[in-house]
Amino acid sequence: MEKLAVEGGRQLHGNLRIHGAKNAALPILAATVLAEGQYTIQDVPHLSDISVMLDILTAMGAKTKHKESNVLIDTGSLITSHIPKDLMGLMRSSIFLMGPLLARFGEVIVYPPGGCAIGERKIDLHIKGLQALGANIAEFEDHIHCTANRLFGADIYLDFPSVGATENIMMAATRAEGKTIIRNAAREPEITDLQNFLNKMGAKIQGAGTPVIVIEGADHLEPVEYRVIPDRIVAGTMLLAGCMTEGDLTIENIFYEHIESLVSVLRQCGVEIERAHDIIKVSSRGLLKPVQRIETGPYPGFPTDLQAQLMVFLTMAHGPSIIRENVFENRFKHVAELCKMGARVEIKQNEARIIGGTRLIGSEVEATDLRAGAALILAGLVCEGTTYINRIHHIDRGYDRIDQQLQSIGAHIRRIPG
Ligand code: EPZ
Repeated sequence: MEKLAVEGGRQLHGNLRIHGAKNAALPILAATVLAEGQYTIQDVPHLSDISVMLDILTAMGAKTKHKESNVLIDTGSLITSHIPKDLMGLMRSSIFLMGPLLARFGEVIVYPPGGCAIGERKIDLHIKGLQALGANIAEFEDHIHCTANRLFGADIYLDFPSVGATENIMMAATRAEGKTIIRNAAREPEITDLQNFLNKMGAKIQGAGTPVIVIEGADHLEPVEYRVIPDRIVAGTMLLAGCMTEGDLTIENIFYEHIESLVSVLRQCGVEIERAHDIIKVSSRGLLKPVQRIETGPYPGFPTDLQAQLMVFLTMAHGPSIIRENVFENRFKHVAELCKMGARVEIKQNEARIIGGTRLIGSEVEATDLRAGAALILAGLVCEGTTYINRIHHIDRGYDRIDQQLQSIGAHIRRIPG
């Protein structure tokens, strides 16, 4: 199996351009099912999750091509709404296809996407939302069969502001008769990006970014060209890499407000941060202060997808910090691997207490999930000696050639073929 070797102790200097957001591109690619024709989706990163989504669409009859950072897709030739089981099992985000396929074909069979290391990943809110729009849902041992001759607008309250459920309902509701209201909707920037994409197609949606989204059913939608927003989680990961190595790093192509919660924590810890238009520059020298307590939560709260990476940063702070994980019930799998490197972290239910001021030592570790893997790379950048990270396919799901990106700003990191 391929692994990464990361040599500690190098300062990172220079500029990095942030690629398009995985979590914006995936629902937008799913939404191309809603209208036949040729789309160009720009700034789509080369990630295994993106490849799986394109493989699923191709298996259902679409024509797809990922050329440089553009995805060309023609969904006019879609012939089935049946998502191949083997592909669905590869990626949870295939669940985003439920709403669009139901709206287009009136039927969809999905296989429960399953959980992964970070939690159960239920889909009850997706199901509740589609049922409210008029779908009949039959749940079997290994699959879910949804049918709907027509979809009708509904007033839907989400018990939790689920990102995926909000996106699935939004997409299905664009083709429902009448008005749909989603209350307690997720407010992530990726939701707003999906709204902008759908509205460019001719949908009538407003309110994304707020807890109430209103969708008027549209008779006709058109294929379009669209550029996805930058990836705020990749940006946050790289900013942390710059701070931890005491380098001077400038990241380009990022919306400051999308990572304001991280910037606020870094400033509290004593990191100098400058911002210009879509550029953020970090430099940190000397002692990092701990944070008394930081809690992850739905946007605009601190993103759960940066929790593992922040934990590594806080091992360097001079004093104890506490992180509370409120979104996923099992998102501390990286802690055992960090402790192998000398980190001192105590877990109590969904809280982690990080004893700062610890020197990490290069070790053989493994990525348990996407963001845990990214955190191990950050740890490798600052530890003594070399760290070998196994199971790096997790990391390639969400970071486009992260080793080359980090090499370009001075890191000694290399991919060792398996
Ligand atoms: C999206 O996952 C992201 N993935 C995740 O990023 C991100 O961590 C998450 O939102 C939260 O921000 C994509 O956008 C592809 P949720 P999603 O539905 O939609 C519970 C990464 O690293 N829930 O908001 O699956 C669920 O169990 C990934 O890029 C239900 O109970 O997240 C979880 O505890 C990881 N029932 C919480 O809500 C449901 O029907 C948040 O899930 C749906 C969700």
